[in-house]
Amino acid sequence: MATPKILVLPGSTRTGSHNVRLAALAAKELALIDVDVTRISLEDYPLPLYEGDLEANAGPPANALKLKQMIMAHQGVFITSPEYSASVTPLLKNSIDWISRVREHGEPYYAAFKGRVFALGSASPSSAGGLRSLMALRQILELGCGALVIPEQVAIPQADQAFDDMGNIADTGTANLFRAELSRLVDMARLMT
Ligand SMILES: Cc1cc2nc3c(=O)[nH]c(=O)nc-3n(C[C@H](O)[C@H](O)[C@H](O)COP(=O)(O)O)c2cc1C
Repeated sequence: MATPKILVLPGSTRTGSHNVRLAALAAKELALIDVDVTRISLEDYPLPLYEGDLEANAGPPANALKLKQMIMAHQGVFITSPEYSASVTPLLKNSIDWISRVREHGEPYYAAFKGRVFALGSASPSSAGGLRSLMALRQILELGCGALVIPEQVAIPQADQAFDDMGNIADTGTANLFRAELSRLVDMARLMT
């Protein structure tokens, strides 16, 4: 069976971001399994705020195409999502909106979200760990983009204290849930190869 490729994509580019830290941990854990892991930063794919006239006049920007192709080169995508105002970050939503508008070779919209599997995680200094951003992101991906999102997810509360010096999740139960989620993502991604 072919080795599945997993993309890790944090929804924050903030210096010291808890969700970048969670993404780094996901990449580290995934590298221990038999998968090819790529971790990217949206900092490397700057995009204007989506606006219909902008698209009508110039089409999706080159970075939207690059992001779409990056997703399509993988069978699994793990997204870490900060919670802003009980939802996802504008950065993540705007990136998804642009990706959803890219069509190559006459393919249908949302091509990047089909034929692969998504898994979600969040980290927040709050007690709910960004859970509401995961609910919003699940709605965007599943209902908005037609993606398959596995039911397993982790929301890490008190994120400023949740990681140890090695960047691991300090709480053993949560760390085990996180590994189980990644394992399920890989199992599902293997089916897509
Ligand atoms: C505009 C704004 C709104 C926020 N709203 C929430 C919220 O609704 N729930 C929450 O848990 N944290 C909220 N936060 C706090 C973020 O979760 C926190 O800043 C977190 O560290 C951001 O993720 P990052 O560390 O990956 O950048 C908010 C932060 C900002 C800047």
